[in-house]
Amino acid sequence: MCGIVGYVGKKNVRDVIIEGLHRLEYRGYDSAGIATTDGKTLVVKKAIGKISDLEKAIQGISFPGSIGMGHTRWATHGGVTEANAHPHTGCPWTKKLQVAVAHNGIIENYRHIKTLLEKKGHMFTSETDTEVIAHLIEEYANGSLFEAVRAALNDLEGAYAIVVISKEYPHELIAARNQSPLVLGVGKGEYYIGSDPSAFVTHTRDVIHVEDGEIVRITPEGYTISLLDNTPISRNVTHIDWDAKKIEKGGYDHYMKKEIDEQPHSTRDAMRGRIDIENGNARLRGIEDKLNELSILKRIIITACGTSWHAGLVGEYLIEELARIPVEVEYASEFRYRSPIIEPGTAVLVISQSGETADTLAALREAKRQGGLVLGICNVIGSTIARETHSGVYLHAGPEIGVASTKAFTSQITVLTLLSVLLARSRGMSQARGQQLLKALADIPEKMTYLLRPENEQAIKKIAEAHAERNHFLYLGRGINFPVALEGALKLKEISYIHAEGYPAAEMKHGPIALIDKKMPSVIIALKHDPLYPKIISNMEEILARGGDIIAVATEEDGEIEKKAKHVLRVPTVPIELSPLVTALPLQMLAYYAAVKRGCEIDQPRNLAKSVTVE
Ligand code: F6R
Repeated sequence: MCGIVGYVGKKNVRDVIIEGLHRLEYRGYDSAGIATTDGKTLVVKKAIGKISDLEKAIQGISFPGSIGMGHTRWATHGGVTEANAHPHTGCPWTKKLQVAVAHNGIIENYRHIKTLLEKKGHMFTSETDTEVIAHLIEEYANGSLFEAVRAALNDLEGAYAIVVISKEYPHELIAARNQSPLVLGVGKGEYYIGSDPSAFVTHTRDVIHVEDGEIVRITPEGYTISLLDNTPISRNVTHIDWDAKKIEKGGYDHYMKKEIDEQPHSTRDAMRGRIDIENGNARLRGIEDKLNELSILKRIIITACGTSWHAGLVGEYLIEELARIPVEVEYASEFRYRSPIIEPGTAVLVISQSGETADTLAALREAKRQGGLVLGICNVIGSTIARETHSGVYLHAGPEIGVASTKAFTSQITVLTLLSVLLARSRGMSQARGQQLLKALADIPEKMTYLLRPENEQAIKKIAEAHAERNHFLYLGRGINFPVALEGALKLKEISYIHAEGYPAAEMKHGPIALIDKKMPSVIIALKHDPLYPKIISNMEEILARGGDIIAVATEEDGEIEKKAKHVLRVPTVPIELSPLVTALPLQMLAYYAAVKRGCEIDQPRNLAKSVTVE
């Protein structure tokens, strides 16, 4: 998730852009850049690090003109380097059109476009997908910046919010949106563009939300909005009355809730460009160079901490079930110290949202020291773990700011599902089965959106509030939903400080059942189409017989569950292999609303840090 800001007006452009970038920094920062033009020159400056690093780098440089743009980057394609930072420009020698482009999103067909443009003599200087947009606009130069951008956009596949300025049209800023947010700010004789209103909220609160497939042309005289086929669009200006802090959180009170609600989007980003429905296979470019080794693997060790470890457990079920490769899942803190055995044919898969967790990093280094093939699944591009693994796959979940991990968990499971299909297809899983799973995976974001609808959320909130004063919870699940029970318990304890234990449902009778009484609710994942459903119902009977209360996570079709469970958290029906992608969400919300009710500090729970870089 990157941040974009653009400005057309009489204020000091540099100051407006830098202020906007500071306000967008919450969206992620590994590098940033600014571009302005007065028609004589196009000044583009970039720096690695935070916006304050960019400010230092541009000290003493003058930024001419009354039009400009800025970008704060959270890397998706290419490492964190000045060359990969935005804005991007086309060929330095061009006489046609000198543009600067800032982009948020992922261009899926950039490799194809890059190859075509290289054949035409374009020279690329970065590893990003964005740079192709600048070259493409240059290629389409035809006497109008707007028309050149419009032609270029028609060639792009993927998600984008872009802003374009050019030396040749110093009074024109073009912006466009497809699946990445973009907002137009309307001031008095001045206009702003931003990834969200926080980019310009101190200047104007009058906004127009640009929609997918729309292109905006801004000049000092005004703005026009049209569709990519040139159909004009008229849209009313709306006034926002949120404060800047709330806008950064997209109107939410807490990042955690924002990130819970982002899951349809982040899950889609995790699978974007990685599903090959026709062949019933997954395409994971980050590990493509290791496909031969992967096809003859004998064993996989997954190592991680916390929520990432729980995702690893889901991965164990998936890989063993689909690819029939034996998998072990180890806490990284244990793995690193217990002389693990890594024979030839073993791959070690490390999972980390931050890519900086000290124990996971040490486990990775131990695996490498022993000569193992080490693969990674990380969110933060260019993080230490991402750099040190032999190959890896990124989550593309955008920055996760709330300390309690939510969207990273579902993105990790999405990537693990893709990896399982890839491994399984090289071991004889049929194309039809691959297609069936991948189609169902592609439907998950929509199912999540449905699950997160307001009525369902209100129902979950009510249940959470009714139980917020309890001191102990038991979370139970079986099969692939056992790790989700662990994750649900972790969410509750870390943000609400309520004691919660996660167990495989059948294990309960070997000890935890002694705790059950009227005061301790049990949260049980009980999906009617799960072959283990009858067994889970028996586990429920055991709880009821001891006077315990049950909160069930059940599918919408299950009309019987209320006979056993006092409260029900409803989820849509999806194949059992993919069910953690829906069952995790009500448990995240249950924890969130219990913590809100208890007045807890949601985004920074006590004693916890987002990235545990110490042992
Ligand atoms: C829980 C949580 C932690 C992390 C753990 C690993 O909500 O966030 O348990 O999952 O510290 O962090 P990463 O994934 O960054 O290695």
